[in-house]
Amino acid sequence: MSQTPTSILSVDQWVDDVLGNAKFNSPAAHASAYAPSNIALSKYWGKREVNFNLPVTGSVSISLAEHGTKTGLSVVDAPQHDITLNGEEVDASQSFAIKLSQWLDRVLPNNLKLRVDTYNTVPTAAGLASSASGFAALTLATNSLMGWQLPEHKLSALARLGSGSASRSLWHGFVKWQAGEQPNGSDSVAFLLKHQWPQLRVGLLTVSSQKKAVSSREGMARTIATSALYKQWPEQANSDLTVIETAIEAGDFETMAGTAENNAMSMHATMAAAWPPLVYWQPDSLTQMHKVWQLREQGLPLYLTMDAGPNLKLLFEAKHQSDVEVAFPEVQVITPFG
Ligand code: PMV
Repeated sequence: MSQTPTSILSVDQWVDDVLGNAKFNSPAAHASAYAPSNIALSKYWGKREVNFNLPVTGSVSISLAEHGTKTGLSVVDAPQHDITLNGEEVDASQSFAIKLSQWLDRVLPNNLKLRVDTYNTVPTAAGLASSASGFAALTLATNSLMGWQLPEHKLSALARLGSGSASRSLWHGFVKWQAGEQPNGSDSVAFLLKHQWPQLRVGLLTVSSQKKAVSSREGMARTIATSALYKQWPEQANSDLTVIETAIEAGDFETMAGTAENNAMSMHATMAAAWPPLVYWQPDSLTQMHKVWQLREQGLPLYLTMDAGPNLKLLFEAKHQSDVEVAFPEVQVITPFG
């Protein structure tokens, strides 16, 4: 894995190039935007470059419809950005506020400070990718506030600077993030796949909504540095991505969902082989996983995927929704193409 030597300064230069004169547009009084969260079917795990958040492999996701983030922006006369999360002030020293402020200071003219009201409809940092919808909503709202009128691929690249998976959260439906080759990430952007799957359902099984102990950023770095199993990951991830994309086009549920489950299990295996070991699962996660496998053995076409957290996302089709709800009364069912 070659780590391209790029500096923070060159990220700022790239942002200035992308925005051009629009960086100095006068802001509107207020703007807001919504972005859905997303769950990767073939995962992004590992950066080839850390400042631009460039992935080792491409990934493909399904957006989670009404589960996401709504962000409102307005200009404030204050020395720093004023940030709220779900109606509560966030202290400037918290990592959430630091990350948002860093992103805003990169893209806004000097000294322009904003009030940022963020509402999540997913539990924050519980492996339900609230950072993805958060940075996507922030990117869309800032585009609107500042009148940038940027094309989608540039918005995707700007969202990626906040959080890799945010590059995929600008759309509803299936989204592919291509790894790209450019050192400045100008081709490491996501786009909407045209195929729709109205029968597809995603079930959220929340085992814990507590903040995860190890961030994705740290977890990826640790896995790359210490896990012997990571060596085979890029090859599998690339192959899974192709298989899943083809299965989406063919409407082949078993191949799509089965490959997604195997991809998630393989990603978690690379983490478990890191040192110190990285295991996001809780005992209840395993209990629920076994339940899924047992139901599948009994003939229910039900699959699971998991991100860097203890929660399960179930994959199934509409015709099996009532069976799934009987087996998991606590499941929250999402209709991605509703
Ligand atoms: O975008 P990040 O830095 O939160 O990383 C996301 C990592 C996974 O959720 C585990 C996988 C993915 O592709 O979303």
